[in-house]
Amino acid sequence: VERELKTEHLQDNAGGISRAAELLRAGALVSFPTETVYGLGANATDDRAVARIFEAKGRPHFNPLIVHLPSVDAVSEYAELSGITHDLAHAFWPGPLTLVLPLKPNGPLSALVSAGLPTVAVRVPAHALAQKVLEAAGVPVAAPSANPSGRISPSTAQHVLDGLSGRIEAVLDGGPCGVGVESTIVGIEPTPVLLRPGGLPVEALEAALGAPLAVRGDGAAINAPGQMTSHYAPNAQMRLNAERVLEGERLLGFGPVDAALNLSPSGDLVEAAANLFGFLHRLDAEGDAPIAVSPIPDHGLGRAINDRLRRAAAPRD
Ligand code: TXA
Ligand code: MG
Repeated sequence: VERELKTEHLQDNAGGISRAAELLRAGALVSFPTETVYGLGANATDDRAVARIFEAKGRPHFNPLIVHLPSVDAVSEYAELSGITHDLAHAFWPGPLTLVLPLKPNGPLSALVSAGLPTVAVRVPAHALAQKVLEAAGVPVAAPSANPSGRISPSTAQHVLDGLSGRIEAVLDGGPCGVGVESTIVGIEPTPVLLRPGGLPVEALEAALGAPLAVRGDGAAINAPGQMTSHYAPNAQMRLNAERVLEGERLLGFGPVDAALNLSPSGDLVEAAANLFGFLHRLDAEGDAPIAVSPIPDHGLGRAINDRLRRAAAPRD
């Protein structure tokens, strides 16, 4: 993809917010922070703007995107909340949860957003700057993570610029993302199913539902990068659940181990999630010696961390 645009680096102030909103309304691509990762936003009612997201990311297919809205009240114009999804929305929005909902018939969203499916993924982010931009834009904003296809998701504005400078009109800088892994995605098929572990722990969803959450089997095909085996990939080979470091390996540590980069020396999974993508970006920048990763418990945010690490470690094609 050519890099011919002059990407504006907008700041977290009134001028930056109104410029980001103006660009979004005009069909431009604007990266903005959320509590999970930086999104690559476009007006979700504008076919051409949405198509440009795929072009800028170098995404090979038109996969469905998440629509970002400033409040629960805004949802009914685009999608249908009812029963369980109504309850989950009111329990967890704003927050790192994405719900796959029936599209409102004849609604204003571009068909590219939902890739022709009868459903649309929706989320109300908890990040104050994201909410201000969404309010100011006054249009629904489709946004995947703001990284070139197949690469590590961005948790700072600098990561966004490293990957997409010259391919997008602007990035709005809100500092590092607090959660650090993408949202948890839940669909209703026809009972609730976990489609992607993420920033909202599965345990919190199960407590709200009062029942265990089914997980979509690995065999079920969805043709989207987030669901592809190799994704979130650094250049180096990665080896997971490493109890010790082999010769030539760099250690990405967790817990009380001796590592130059430790996701959380105290074993805190929330801290580890917040550090994950930034540390992978650093390891990527530092070279391509293989990476060993300490074992990480598979509960709470550990579910999402292990999911992303498995994809980063998967064989490349
Ligand atoms: O935290 C996040 O979710 C970030 C921030 C920017 O909000 N966004 C993000 O978007 O991770 P993306 O495009 O990287 O992942 C969206 C996922 C895709 O894997 C896709 O499979 C799923 O959402 N998805 C979107 N629409 C869907 C639909 N109608 N049915 C099932 N899955 C859908
Ligand atoms: Mg992504």
